[in-house]
Order: sequence, then C-alpha cells, then structure tokens
Amino acid sequence: MSLSPKRIPADLLPIMDALTRIGRDVAGIIARGALGDSLSVEVGENSDGDGQKALDVMADELFEAALRETAVKYYASEEQEVVLDLGEGKYALAIDPLDGSSNIDVNVSIGTIFSIFEAKDGAEESFLRPAHEQVAGGYIVFGPQTGMAVTFGDGVLIYAMDPASGEFLLVEEDKQIVPSSKEFAINASNRRHWVKGARSYIEECEAGETGSKGKNMNMRWVGSLVAEAHRILTRGGVFLYPADERKGYENGRLRMTYECAPIAFLIEQAGGEAHDGVTRILDKTAPELHARTPLVFGSVEEVRSVKAHYEA
Ligand code: F6P
Repeated sequence: MSLSPKRIPADLLPIMDALTRIGRDVAGIIARGALGDSLSVEVGENSDGDGQKALDVMADELFEAALRETAVKYYASEEQEVVLDLGEGKYALAIDPLDGSSNIDVNVSIGTIFSIFEAKDGAEESFLRPAHEQVAGGYIVFGPQTGMAVTFGDGVLIYAMDPASGEFLLVEEDKQIVPSSKEFAINASNRRHWVKGARSYIEECEAGETGSKGKNMNMRWVGSLVAEAHRILTRGGVFLYPADERKGYENGRLRMTYECAPIAFLIEQAGGEAHDGVTRILDKTAPELHARTPLVFGSVEEVRSVKAHYEA
C-alpha cells in the first residue's frame, strides 16, 4: 500500500491506493527526465484535437490498468474519446491523467486530476450530472515534491509522498484557503479576446493601490492547472480561465468533468469558491464528456469580486 489510509472512506481506499501507486510510478518516470524515454514527444491527438504527448498516453494506460482492479466501473479520461466500462463496480472515475503537458520537458510542476461519482445506469450518465454529486475530487502534483490534495466531502486532506518509500503520508487534515489575497493568475496574452467582466477585473488588479482595490496585486501563471490550484490552496489567490472570442474558446479552455469539477470541489471544501463568471461550478452539469467551462476559483474575496465585475 502506497497510502496512509487515515480519513479515507473504506469503500474508496482501494481506488485511492491505485491512484497513488500509479502516482508514485509516474513521479519516478518524470523525475528521470531526459535520462529516460522522451516524454514530451507528440504521439497523436485526443478527441478534441489537443496534441497528445507520450507521457499523457503512458499515464492514461497506467491509471486505466490499475483501476481495472478496483471498484471503478466507468473510466472517463481526457485521453479517450468515450467512457470505458471496466467491469463490475460501484464507481465512475473521470481523470486528466497528465495535466499541464506543455510543461513536461521544462521541469515545471504538472499533475493528475481525478473526480469520482457513484456510478449510475449508463456510462455517460454517470458523469453528465451536477458536479456537487461528486464523492471525491483531487489531484496529484508532480513538482519539487510529489503530493496529493483530495476531498471526500469532509474537508481537504493534503498528502506528501515520501520519496524513499513511495508512500503518501497525510500532512494536513483540514486545508483552508485564506479568504483574502494579493495574487491573481490568468494567461494575459489572451487579454484582447477576453469577455468584459474578466477584462475589467484584471484592470482593477493592475491598478493596484491607485484603483478601487486599494492594494497592489501580484501575478503568477504556471500553465499547469494543478500547480495553480496547489499554490492557491497553499497561500491563496485567484485563478481565471475565462471565455474568450477565439474559435473554440467560447467556454474557455478547461474541461468540466475532469478538470473544473474536481478542482471546484476541493476549493469549496477548503473554504474558497469557484464559478464560471455567473454560475457556481458545482451546480453545473457537463453537457457532454469533454465539454469546457470558463473557470474562476480561489480566495473568497477575489472570486466574489470577479463575479461582481461580470454582473456590472
Ligand atoms: O489542461 C489544459 C492546461 O494545460 C491547464 O493545465 C492550464 O491551466 C492551461 O491549459 C494553460 O493554458 P494556456 O495554454 O492558455 O496557458
């Protein structure tokens, strides 16, 4: 077992054990970097036309194989067009096996994001439902340290992987996001395409103490959703991937089922908030498996301020 089981619902323990076991293996592969096989080579395209890297595909295969041995019946992956039926089981698991793949070969944090529902009758039906029905959501982050943040609907647990044993050890039991912060994250190169609410909020951030915020703000953009979420869980802040005018970005860039829903679940459980500019993410239902949604999440004060700009 690669996971210290404290506070994990017994039913979900074998699934969490499989996820962290593969997390440990993927961390090992990533840590070898250029000493191992080339991980960032393009090997194809996923269902939505995004380039697939060797590590995306490798991680997907490893997670799928390990989860076949658990109570996961339905497996939905960013790397696969349709939901797989893995056989008997009570759960449906959605996964982005390797998030932030543009950062694979630059030695910057990347991650795995997962979301678990109880399975319904029907593969897609098990995922196309309100996000607040998730029974677990979390990520594994592969950075200077490999760690995991997970919620089962009763607070956020933070684990750190001991590199010597590969075991994930519980290091924090009730992670809370500070309500107020001075840090925002957005891909500013898209500014000219943004919707009005996002643009006016960022203008207010940039005005700093000379504007209505009355405080100077700082900006960070890693380009890996997991790394941004981990930073925001750790020291607060706000993240925006708004809808914009580029073709294909009408609903932003990020996927509802295996990116936004689990991150929103974690963030709310840590006392933060997450919405799409208008609607709470956990009240949304993905219209199809790989659907995108705009995403704003983080410290309560900033997330509410973004909403006020959208409503203005
Ligand atoms: O899943 C897509 C992703 O790599 C996220 O991890 C990240 O937040 C985003 O895309 C980066 O987008 P951009 O390429 O616009 O910086």
